[in-house]
Amino acid sequence: MKFPYNEKVLEHFRHPHNVGKLDNPDGKATEGSPACGDMISVYLKVNPGTKIIEDIKFESYGCASNIATGSIITDMAKGKTLEQAKKITWQQATEALGGLPAIKAHCSVLAIEGLRAAIQNYEEKHGIITEKKPTTLEVVNNRLKKVMNPLTGLDVVKTNIIKKIEINKGKVFITVDLPSNHQFANSIREEIKEKIEPLWDVEEVIVDFVE
Ligand code: FES
Repeated sequence: MKFPYNEKVLEHFRHPHNVGKLDNPDGKATEGSPACGDMISVYLKVNPGTKIIEDIKFESYGCASNIATGSIITDMAKGKTLEQAKKITWQQATEALGGLPAIKAHCSVLAIEGLRAAIQNYEEKHGIITEKKPTTLEVVNNRLKKVMNPLTGLDVVKTNIIKKIEINKGKVFITVDLPSNHQFANSIREEIKEKIEPLWDVEEVIVDFVE
């Protein structure tokens, strides 16, 4: 069978660069694609003085396009400042790969979103955010749209498993409509905390299950 990918894409897919995890990353994020339910995690080590990305790794649960894009954008981002890395687009990544099938655009978008979310995570954790708007129910809800429900490959908002969100004096309480002994309860709790805790005015995130 002939793959609809060029040689460069296949090379990055078969031998991806910068694959894996970083211990104690300075910034990290997992993003899910609403189009296909696949996920990518990106880990960063950042020089605190120069804000240069000194190391970067990714793990992909996506397809060949996503793996190839993760490989090329981590190459592109390494050695750049956070500001420069933020400006890398999926179109540039696609071009650097010599093109991807049009139907696979969302896979490269997912990789770029993973990189940008990891940068945002770094900036939030280190207080480098310019706009300090208060966290509202809408902000929390929007972040929850990035948490995947592994049962369905869709996000936890779309699959209606968020029963309640409350914000009170820096504490965010979220009730998930799953039993606490559910096989994915812990991973969903961890992902929710990862997305909500970095918000500048959030002190604690408490995730409860229905029983
Ligand atoms: Fe899901 Fe490509 S089809 S990342």
